[in-house]
Amino acid sequence: MSASTRIRAVKGMHDVLPQAMARWKRVEALFRDLAERHGYAEIRTPLVEPTSLFVRSIGESTDIVGKEMYSFVDKGEDSLTLRPEGTASAVRAYIEHEIHAQEAVTKWYYIGPMFRRERPARGRYRQFWQAGIECFGDPGPYSDAEAIALLVEVLRAIGLSELEVVVNSIGSRSSKERYRQALVEFLKPHKEALSLESQRRLETNPLRILDSKDPKDQAICKNAPAILDFLSEQDRAHFESLCELLARLGIESRVDPHLVRGLDYYSRTLFEVRGKGGELGAQNALAGGGRYDELVEALGGPPTPAIGFAMGIERILLACENTQEGPSLDVWVATPDPSLLPCVLELLTLLRRDGIRADADLRGTSLRSQLRRAQKKGVPFVLLLGPEEEAKSTFRLKDMEGHSEEEIPQSALFFELKRRLPKRSPSAL
Ligand code: HAM
Repeated sequence: MSASTRIRAVKGMHDVLPQAMARWKRVEALFRDLAERHGYAEIRTPLVEPTSLFVRSIGESTDIVGKEMYSFVDKGEDSLTLRPEGTASAVRAYIEHEIHAQEAVTKWYYIGPMFRRERPARGRYRQFWQAGIECFGDPGPYSDAEAIALLVEVLRAIGLSELEVVVNSIGSRSSKERYRQALVEFLKPHKEALSLESQRRLETNPLRILDSKDPKDQAICKNAPAILDFLSEQDRAHFESLCELLARLGIESRVDPHLVRGLDYYSRTLFEVRGKGGELGAQNALAGGGRYDELVEALGGPPTPAIGFAMGIERILLACENTQEGPSLDVWVATPDPSLLPCVLELLTLLRRDGIRADADLRGTSLRSQLRRAQKKGVPFVLLLGPEEEAKSTFRLKDMEGHSEEEIPQSALFFELKRRLPKRSPSAL
């Protein structure tokens, strides 16, 4: 590479520039606020974990483990992997810190980047952000309904109304195994007609054939036995209760017996929320989750039922691309006289200390250019401080949207500003 070659971000990985941050922060803040209101506490786990953690939890035959992990050998010693999702790390931490001995039910949430070497497309990236929850120790079905309700609540608070909630149950281990056998029996005679990928999956992970996007596979799977017919009595009762609870909570959902999801650790409840509007295109799964009652034990912990979900922040932002963004500043302070800049700076400090988002041009430029910058930033109010106002201990408050201007005494400034500024919810701060 020559010295003049420009270095670009890695394919499928993106910068989030300051102008996009307001939208990101809003989504994160709404998620955080609602998760905490539901009793979840934040956890941060490392971005890198032993490769074996993901192999043993997500499953060797999955696309994630088979094709998409960023793995490397650390100085010739251990194989490490950039986390492709958050559940495995949460389970590892739950076991490592013996949380089960401290409380009966543990509710954790996380926000952070995940890494999967997928083919980049709109809404599909190699580094993407997830906001997720994991709840340990509660077998459901009430906690299943609560988790789905929280997800829907978050998406609605973000402003997404065109949502489809899809649910299914793949039963516990024995039901899943009985179904796997029946599915293989059904698919075997059609093997030659299946896509090459599905022919391979028939040996490794037959359930995944059900959510193949290939039309040939889809036509065959239409007549495949439904997993719901293979559930044990307890699994069925669990799923029926969940569906009733969702209806009771006013959450419209569709049962899709072909919903299988791409991670092996699931048992019983599975769900996905798909978006309908915005700029989503084919990547319309905004969030997905499910129960993983056997995973904690499989990774060396005590038997512990668990459920969780994760939502893709980039996809959510794409889905609400057309929604209007509020200004990122409340007030712009301007002065026609550079000798008043010390007062401007002092005023900015006081405004900011009081929670008001304020800024000014401190370079001593013309008033016209200062106002142009305020307008460009879409700031709703400008506080003008000239020699005349300074002498009278007043400000001129310019309403940039209403195009009005009035003089207010300095002593009433905070009262007058707060009266005019729209109330920001705590989650937006
Ligand atoms: P997942 O369905 O693999 O589940 O991912 C959850 C969400 O992350 C997806 O619905 C999507 O919005 C987003 N996502 C996934 N891959 C990409 C990508 N390449 N680019 C952009 N967004 C993406 C899990 O990861 C599970 N850990 C969820 C879970 C938590 N299950 C139980 N607890």
